[in-house]
Amino acid sequence: MSDTKIFLTGIKPTGTVHLGNYIGALRQIRDISAVHKTIVFVADLHALNIMHDANAVREHTYEIAAIIMSIGVNMDNVLLFRQSDVPAVCELSTILTNVTPKGLMDRAHSYKAAVDRNTAAGADADMGVNMGLYTYPILMAADILLYGADVVPVGADQKQHVEFARDIAGHFNTIYGNVLKLPDAQIAPDAGIIPGLDGRKMSKSYDNVIPLMANSGELKKKIMRIITDSKTPEESKDPEISTIFQLYKHFADAAEIEKFAEMFRAGGMGYGTAKTILYEKMDSVLAPMRERYEYLMNHRDELDSALAGGAEIARKIADKTLSRVRRVTLGKK
Ligand code: TRP
Repeated sequence: MSDTKIFLTGIKPTGTVHLGNYIGALRQIRDISAVHKTIVFVADLHALNIMHDANAVREHTYEIAAIIMSIGVNMDNVLLFRQSDVPAVCELSTILTNVTPKGLMDRAHSYKAAVDRNTAAGADADMGVNMGLYTYPILMAADILLYGADVVPVGADQKQHVEFARDIAGHFNTIYGNVLKLPDAQIAPDAGIIPGLDGRKMSKSYDNVIPLMANSGELKKKIMRIITDSKTPEESKDPEISTIFQLYKHFADAAEIEKFAEMFRAGGMGYGTAKTILYEKMDSVLAPMRERYEYLMNHRDELDSALAGGAEIARKIADKTLSRVRRVTLGKK
């Protein structure tokens, strides 16, 4: 096992998963799982700093689990579970709190962004900041260190968190000996900006997303709403500035992409036709995933047993790390 690297990543169940998430992060997990042992968990405890509705947390957790099981991930290589099903992570997190400098948390991007927003609005710096947000990176370090992850594939926005996990493990090991493995971040290859319906980056906060598991009719409706310029069908169009083409690129092969680009440049294709072509391409890729996803969402018992089975294995790995940690910190046998 020692020559086999363990990859680990967590996904927060905080909302509808959209195409930007799929193209940016989920496809990377799928590709990694084809060749590596990969630990994937639904970070429901992490969701609590912004979500206080238990039903929503549970439903989004199921959605993430069902998505992981539907998008072509190699489940033979994947350990999938729910973060909160392994309570050891909370104990490790508490212990790590004591070797984590406060200044490190003060420097965390997400906390600093909240403070900057408050300051700009003339409000108290810590307004709306709960300790879950503030100590988020410690819980995340516990996630990573508990399972002895070697590599943590994340988006660029999460790089600092993985560095913090390294720092925290380093502090711990300096005091207690070489107990925790130092992880490396692996930043997802830049997929570029995935445009949403209005041409800005696809993001929940812009309300411009296409849900990954939208049904066929919904998908079509969304695509038809993509904002375009007012060029007539006859006019030549620049594919590089078209949201339609930019989305198409992520679903088609090289020859299809070149052909579609040529149709834009040649003129004679209206945006309605271009949208239909995009819809048909996307639907052909997404329909099989959606079918499996819908099956799982309608068979919760299968999701439950997959998550329970994963948690059982995860708890075994976690307990090994935790007993070493308890031994060196608390003097327990
Ligand atoms: N913080 C990650 C995000 O917001 C989710 C996450 C929680 C995670 N724990 C993790 C990612 C551990 C990688 C490893 O996307």
